[in-house]
Amino acid sequence: MKDLVRPVVAGNWKMYKTISEARNLAAEVVKQAPAPSLATIILIPPFTAIQEVKKTVSKSGILVGGQDLFWEEEGAFTGEISAIQLREAGCDFVLVGHSERRQFFGETDEMVRKKVQAARQHELRPIVCIGENLEDRKNGQTLNKIKSQLENGLFNLPEEEFRMVILAYEPIWAIGTGQNATPEQAEEVHNYIRQLIASRYGKNVSACAIILYGGSVKPANAFSLIKEKDVDGFLVGGASLKAESFLEIVREASRSKEG
Ligand code: 13P
Repeated sequence: MKDLVRPVVAGNWKMYKTISEARNLAAEVVKQAPAPSLATIILIPPFTAIQEVKKTVSKSGILVGGQDLFWEEEGAFTGEISAIQLREAGCDFVLVGHSERRQFFGETDEMVRKKVQAARQHELRPIVCIGENLEDRKNGQTLNKIKSQLENGLFNLPEEEFRMVILAYEPIWAIGTGQNATPEQAEEVHNYIRQLIASRYGKNVSACAIILYGGSVKPANAFSLIKEKDVDGFLVGGASLKAESFLEIVREASRSKEG
């Protein structure tokens, strides 16, 4: 896959949308989406709707991702989904290490590492989520948390594989709360992530890395966040469930290109 056009805006639909609802939402997004030369749009529906969404967006330039995967290729792992299965259903991307997976399903940095490797073995581009909780932030541990998640979950990858990873900074206290990080708070962490990438993989890789912000992104705050130097796009939850608000965010994000 060639380099992605920035901004990159991904909609994580979480456990919302039946197949028919997903088809309707994807069709609305296709109808009103800006040209692929202005932004990369990735839709991330629940597993059951991936194939239908893929069919609906085909020829539009809109891309599709899964919300999780298991690291084995196949086997007796009830309830799990493999990279091969996601590929065949139409995914080019997969979320890994979302804080809801870490919080409710016990996902660790070690599991994130295995999932990222499995994704890469099958040409899926992982969107790896990292971020601190409120306690970390209050205790001044935000950057330490980010560093350990990157070092334990990702920095083992060889350079050519790391280049295929998208990062998503999602402060847990900002997810679904209506309280987004301020542009300054987001930039501080994004810039720190870029510095860590530079010291592990070099300046060139770090400059190319795509770092998304997620956590209560809305049409009203998207432009102020995207204006920050190290914010390359968004991972949107709640506001991605309606075509209108999702596309408004995409439009606000692509305004940043107009200078
Ligand atoms: P909200 O946009 O609903 O805060 O969710 C963010 C998120 O978790 C995206 O993965």
